[in-house]
Amino acid sequence: MTEPILSLRQVNKSFGPAHVLKDVDFNAYPGEVMALVGDNGAGKSTLTKCIGGIHPIDSGSYEFDGRPVRVHEPRDASALGIEIVYQDLALCDNLDIVQNMFLGREERSGMVLDRASMEERALQTLAGLSVRTVTSVRQRVASLSGGQRQTVAIARAVLWNSKVVILDEPTAALGVAQTKQVLDLVRRLADAGLAVILISHNMNDVLSVADRISALYLGRMAAEVRRADIDHTRIVELITTGRSGDLGLAPEQTGETGDPDATPAAGGSDPAGEADAIRPGDAIGPVVEPAGPAETPTATDTDDEVPA
Ligand SMILES: Nc1ncnc2c1ncn2[C@@H]1O[C@H](COP(=O)(O)OP(=O)(O)OP(=O)(O)O)[C@@H](O)[C@H]1O
Ligand SMILES: [Mg+2]
Repeated sequence: MTEPILSLRQVNKSFGPAHVLKDVDFNAYPGEVMALVGDNGAGKSTLTKCIGGIHPIDSGSYEFDGRPVRVHEPRDASALGIEIVYQDLALCDNLDIVQNMFLGREERSGMVLDRASMEERALQTLAGLSVRTVTSVRQRVASLSGGQRQTVAIARAVLWNSKVVILDEPTAALGVAQTKQVLDLVRRLADAGLAVILISHNMNDVLSVADRISALYLGRMAAEVRRADIDHTRIVELITTGRSGDLGLAPEQTGETGDPDATPAAGGSDPAGEADAIRPGDAIGPVVEPAGPAETPTATDTDDEVPA
């Protein structure tokens, strides 16, 4: 079985009184796309910012490549080979593609910038990702389409020998063709051996490109499942109610019993084979399937962004 390159266990994060991440377990695997899904405010961006060292975790463990690491600031994450492509991309419009890809890490030959070398490496990286839509790496980023900008941002992450690339809603602003290009690129990154973490509200994107899916519900990890073991309806259920059939959180964790901070029900009592889509050690409660019909979403979690 593939071992995770990135593994968080029982992670907690609060902002003042707001307990945003609650005993979260999260993994990313080399050569795989892990989709991170959840409703607005579920904690996806906070989790990725914890991974990226923007918000240090309050408690829990953080392992990289099987070893415990301390990630307290962004450069700790960069040093490990973790790159985050934020939704706003943080590209500089007035600079060209090469300048953007090397921003802050310019190559020099003596005192002067080594433009030829940077251009060559930028071209190689784009070619290595089979990017064909960008005609010149000397083109200003301002003149690129949304999908091309996303491509440049992803290529920049790849240029630095990243092992883990996190993409926060990379296709949110893109049309059909550009979305396909970016998803193809996501697939190629994983096929090249990287662990890709893809945050998306678009279930079609998630289902088409993910190898595994992690669903956050109100700051708790409801499930980590293989793509092959789940369908659209069940993902939406996990997102909107925190559980689906034998997957997900126990009722006391979803707040249905009135105690949202109740002790997680994870433990060794899960009967063997009952939840083989869940990895051992995950903080996923052995949920007893309710006898009645599936629960209806609570008032807080209806969300138009999740297509039913
Ligand atoms: N710096 C902060 N200070 C206080 N609260 C914060 C901070 N960052 C996030 N939060 C809160 O944490 C919760 C989770 O936010 P987060 O941005 O992680 O959600 P998300 O899953 O990324 O949502 P979306 O899908 O809307 O991007 C929200 O209730 C948000 O208000
Ligand atoms: Mg977010």
